Amino acid sequence: MKRIAVLGVLLMMLLIVSACSETGAMTEQNSKPSALAAIATANVKEDISVGETILTGKADNFDMETKTVKLNSGYIMPIYGLGTYSLHGTTCVNAMKAALKNGVRLIDTASYYGNAEEIGEAIHASGVPREEIFVISKLYPNEFHNADAAIQSILQKLDIGYVDMMLLHHPGNGDAEAYKVMEKYVAAGKIRSLGLSNWYIKELPEFLPQVSIKPALVQNEIHPYHQENEVVPFIQSLGITVQGWYPLGGRGYNKELMTEPVLKEIAAAHGKSLAQVILRWNIERGIVVIPGSSNPAHIKENTEIFDFALTDEEMAKIKALDRGEKHDWY
Ligand SMILES: NC(=O)c1ccc[n+]([C@@H]2O[C@H](COP(=O)([O-])OP(=O)(O)OC[C@H]3O[C@@H](n4cnc5c(N)ncnc54)[C@H](OP(=O)(O)O)[C@@H]3O)[C@@H](O)[C@H]2O)c1
Repeated sequence: MKRIAVLGVLLMMLLIVSACSETGAMTEQNSKPSALAAIATANVKEDISVGETILTGKADNFDMETKTVKLNSGYIMPIYGLGTYSLHGTTCVNAMKAALKNGVRLIDTASYYGNAEEIGEAIHASGVPREEIFVISKLYPNEFHNADAAIQSILQKLDIGYVDMMLLHHPGNGDAEAYKVMEKYVAAGKIRSLGLSNWYIKELPEFLPQVSIKPALVQNEIHPYHQENEVVPFIQSLGITVQGWYPLGGRGYNKELMTEPVLKEIAAAHGKSLAQVILRWNIERGIVVIPGSSNPAHIKENTEIFDFALTDEEMAKIKALDRGEKHDWY
């Protein structure tokens, strides 16, 4: 009984908090020029814990008006963005330009991608206020032993003052120690939120007790052929937001997925592209998407996923496509 009462109070508090934040976001949205200014205004750290909230594997903590999610760190993150793996030089800068021009405010990079300078350059050149953009970077396992230097290098190369989210790219030797170094940068205001990538049901319970700041995000491979139907609700049940990499099957690995007849049929029914259906399917499962693209037309297309919804029947058809087929080894 006591447990139910405590849960009830927590639920009430959450309802009040979310009602307040929605009202705030609506006000921001109505005051042009940019609805995404809401992110900047809202990204003042709040003392909110959603760590004990039981999520259902649906997008019930996604704000579909502002297209954002409130992380367990208290920060607001867009629910769609641009992945920048394998984008370099002018290709990367042009992709960034197209993304920022089309309202994308979430950028995923990593020290391993070697494109921090281009990303920083594009952000500076865009004229979009820094606080409106949410940048994720990652430490690679070979940097764990000297995380301090690696973080400083990322900060210096990006040259945007702070990183919104830093992830450990993979589990590896010294991962908890590297995470603790990232925690120090949170205290110093140079990193805002922390997370993990390629952590699953086995690794998470072992890792979490070793660190002080709960990860706000886990980024794993997720697409219709590799759906993670157990992993996703497990991570969400911990109050951690899930983000999918290789949402379109992965550059160079997605020929079959991008011609999948079931997806084609659903896309035709909505007058949408197959890529848009996949991205929407993720959003409806409460999964943040970061499709990678070097093509400005694709980048724009990948933002147009909020003017339709998939039916339960369509969601079930896509669920049936799962093959547990990973398109990369980790
Ligand atoms: N944490 C990790 O371990 C990890 C691992 C891998 C990736 N990631 C992250 O996840 C991001 C996404 O992965 P990814 O970029 O490798 O693969 P992806 O997003 O699954 O697919 C990218 C491929 O899809 C194409 N594409 C994009 N939009 C399209 C559209 N609307 N219509 C048709 N084709 C489209 C792209 O070609 P065009 O360039 O021609 O558009 C590219 O060939 C990465 O960029 C990276 O940020 C993280």
